Amino acid sequence: MIEIVAISGSLRAASTNSALVAALATNVPADCRVTIYDGLGLLPIFNPDDEGERTPPEAARLIDAVTSAGGVIVSCPEYAHGVPGGLKNALDWLVSRDAAVAKPAMLVHASPRSLFARAALAEIMRTMSFSLYEGELEIALLGKKPAEVEAILGEDANRQAMREAVQAFADFIRRQT
Ligand SMILES: Cc1cc2nc3c(=O)[nH]c(=O)nc-3n(C[C@H](O)[C@H](O)[C@H](O)COP(=O)(O)O)c2cc1C
Repeated sequence: MIEIVAISGSLRAASTNSALVAALATNVPADCRVTIYDGLGLLPIFNPDDEGERTPPEAARLIDAVTSAGGVIVSCPEYAHGVPGGLKNALDWLVSRDAAVAKPAMLVHASPRSLFARAALAEIMRTMSFSLYEGELEIALLGKKPAEVEAILGEDANRQAMREAVQAFADFIRRQT
């Protein structure tokens, strides 16, 4: 069983990125499990003084989730041409650990327009030594209302695209380990 942890970079209740990772978690091949880390809003602002024995419990929960997963999927909005602070903060908690080193990661996208954030996120995650899978999945949900988002994510073609993307990522994880 390939265990994958998925993280949405948005805290919005009606987030399209969160809807995408939730849909991914329910559209996986039989040999994969996707669980969602949803604690971004609970993490304190990263402070290098608070590492080691002083690591806050929520940061420890994130580090454990990433460490124990075979791979990580991230879906993230773009704010002001950058990566939202909440996700960058979460990644900062992982920088000086082993959690990210050689950990397979895949980016998925709910907006067709978030090109600056995609490039920045890829650069950040490669710098942290994540093993970034080149295949990416995009399902355009930008500006859609929750009912429309649900309908789009429920379309057969999109469900199949999600399953195939997770399958391809799982194959990548198997090749890495
Ligand atoms: C403060 C703020 C800044 C934004 N800046 C950008 C931007 O620079 N480029 C862009 O493509 N979209 C930008 N957006 C739009 C969001 O990226 C877009 O609405 C995204 O789908 C939101 O994701 P969510 O539905 O998961 O919350 C911005 C949205 C907000 C709230």
